[in-house]
Order: sequence, then structure tokens, then C-alpha cells
Amino acid sequence: MFFSSRLPECLDPNEFTKTLEEKKAAGATILDLTHANPTTAGFAFATTLPTPLCNVTASHYEPSALGMKAARNAVRGYYQNNDYGLVDSDDLLLTASTSEAYSFILKLLTDPDDEILIPAPSYPLFDILAMLENVRPSRYMLRQDNSGHWRIDFKSLEQEISRQTRAIVVVNPNNPTGSYMTAEELQKLSELCQRHELALIVDEVFLDYENLGDSAKPCSAITSKTALTFTLSGFSKILALPQVKLSWIHIQGPGTVKAMAKQRLEFIADTYLSVNGMIQHAASALFPYQGDIQQEILARIRTNEILLQAQMGLDPCLREGGWYALIKLPDTITDEQCCLDLLKESSLIVHPGFFYDFMENNRIVVSLITPEEDFRRGIILLKKYLHPQHAE
Ligand SMILES: Cc1ncc(COP(=O)(O)O)c(C=O)c1O
Repeated sequence: MFFSSRLPECLDPNEFTKTLEEKKAAGATILDLTHANPTTAGFAFATTLPTPLCNVTASHYEPSALGMKAARNAVRGYYQNNDYGLVDSDDLLLTASTSEAYSFILKLLTDPDDEILIPAPSYPLFDILAMLENVRPSRYMLRQDNSGHWRIDFKSLEQEISRQTRAIVVVNPNNPTGSYMTAEELQKLSELCQRHELALIVDEVFLDYENLGDSAKPCSAITSKTALTFTLSGFSKILALPQVKLSWIHIQGPGTVKAMAKQRLEFIADTYLSVNGMIQHAASALFPYQGDIQQEILARIRTNEILLQAQMGLDPCLREGGWYALIKLPDTITDEQCCLDLLKESSLIVHPGFFYDFMENNRIVVSLITPEEDFRRGIILLKKYLHPQHAE
């Protein structure tokens, strides 16, 4: 056999993908309610590139494993200006993407067949990121509390810790439940990690997109020093510029372990030096666009969420942050069936809950950054399918 056992044996398209390809080939107009690419979602900010990207004249190349100091200072400014806390730019390491950041951290922490604990439900890419590093993903649960908010189930988390476990991954706020980690949860996680000699990996790409109301503020993991903690973020969500390819890892932890982790991560990053020099030159001039870009995205999210609330009776307060909404299905239909029916009958794309590891097959997920008119048409079709008796 030529190929690594890290890769799945079969990469052929599934029934959903085949149906979609057939529809496209037949010229069908597809309504995509999972739209997650901000550069093609009809935002005004995306019609012209921010000026710094057009003006970069970076002919000089100075390779640096951590990333250029000026770019790291700009990231430090992001945390300070948004009141998340103070970071030292020497505790930051730049990467080309958050996915690359995960791959570096897994190279740093794991040997083949080690385990990492990932949340369920959550971001579907974790299984693949782990598989490509020869690591086994093991799941801990997020569950809804009495008020419907998703919280970490610490009992299931502790039960899953084994001798092979090397790290706990948290997504803050989680994709797609939109739930933030509270300060108490962070403290508990850090103590748990310290007690079991595990690292904490916190993905904060959606941190700024909050829906917490005036009284609460998102809590970032950057200030946590109890355990070896890696906080990840990047331009793909913060500035909605996924094409720019700039992300980072903030490294924090007690005593010598932090310095050792930094030294080793630098060694890994130095092997690839994958971050584009021109983008690093432009970084400090791009952060000032944050306010305008996020305002436009948050306005879209609010408009779509109000429509969802009106059409489907959804409670918007349950979404604490992020770009996604969960829609519960009637008992008579599974998520998989619903997605296939909608595609076949109405050329409408929604994500099935199982894609994100929801245990019950009774939810679908839609993206709230979908262009408003597409979203409105798609939700009306969805309502007609789910509740034909109530549809207009
Ligand atoms: C939780 C989470 N982390 C990371 C990413 C991807 O980040 P990047 O484009 O920087 O690899 C996504 C993309 O949707 C995500 O949902």
C-alpha cells in the first residue's frame, strides 16, 4: 500500500455531496444556508481589500520563527485594545492559519496514539487535525443547563482523561453552540489540567462576536497561568479575512514549562516558516479595520437571527456568540433525512447536527452570516418543509 494509514481509506463523496454535484451540473440554483466565507457573503467591506494589503512593499525578508516583532506587537495591541488583558509579544507565535496552529501544538505535545480531549458538539475539523498527527480524539460533552445554555460537563471530561491524554481543547465561544467558557469554567479547567499534567488549548477565533448583553464580557484564556495554556486566534474570523492567512498562538504557563514549550514551538515553526512576510508587514495597519468589519457582520447576524426568531420561534438569548444558529427538528425527522430532503426538493443546504457531533439527531445548523435575502428565502423553504401547516 502506497499511502499512510493516517488518511481515511475512502475519500469518495457521500450521498449528499453527490446529489449537490448533480444539482449543480444540472444548472440548479443552490440556496446555501451554511455560508461561512465572509469574502463572498455580500459584505461591503469585502468588495475592496483594506488599503494596507494593496500598499505593502516588503522586499526585505528576515525569517523569524516566532514571526515579525511588529506583527506580534500588533496582536498584543488587539488583546489590550479589546480589554481582554495584557500579553507579552514574546509569548506569541504567528502561524498561517488556526489549523496550522493546531498541527504545531499537536506536534509539540503528542506521540503517536496519544489522545486529546475535544468537545462534543463542536468544530468538525478536530477529528481530521488529530488524525493527521496520528493522535486519537476523545470526546467530552457540552450539555444544556436548565436555562438552555451549553456548559462543559466536567464529569464526562474527567471520566475521559486517561494515561494517553495530553491536552484538553476548548472552543471559546464554541462552534456551533455559541457558548462561551465562563471564568469559573476556565479556572476549573486550568486546575484539572495542572492536576493531570495536561495542556489546555483554547480556540478563540469567534471571541469578539458576542451576544452576551451589556452586563457580561467574554473571558479570554490569555490571562490563565495555572496550566500550560495555548490560546489560538487569527484574521480569518476577527477581520473576516481568511485569504490573508495570519493566525497566532499565545503561550502561557507556570515556571519553566512555558519556556520549554516556547523553545520547542519555535523549533517546529522554524522548520516551515509558513507565514507570509508581506502580511506580517501589513498586520498593524489591518487591525484598525476590526471595528467596521465586525459591526457589519454583527448587524447581518442580528437581522438573520430576528428573522429566525419570527419564523421558527427561536430564542436568540441562547446564542451567546459566534456565527451559527441551531434549529431543533420535530421528532418525526432526523437531521440527515432533513438535509437530504431539503437539498433534493428545494436545492437548499443546511448542516446536519451529527456533522458537529450532536448526540441526538434532531438539530440542524445554519450560518447567520448568510446574505439576508438568501437567508430569508431559505428559512421560509425550511419552515414549509418542517411545518407545512404553518407556512405562509
Ligand atoms: C472553531 C474554529 N477554529 C478555527 C477555524 C478555522 O480557522 P483558520 O481559517 O484560521 O484555520 C474555524 C473555521 O470555521 C473554526 O470554526
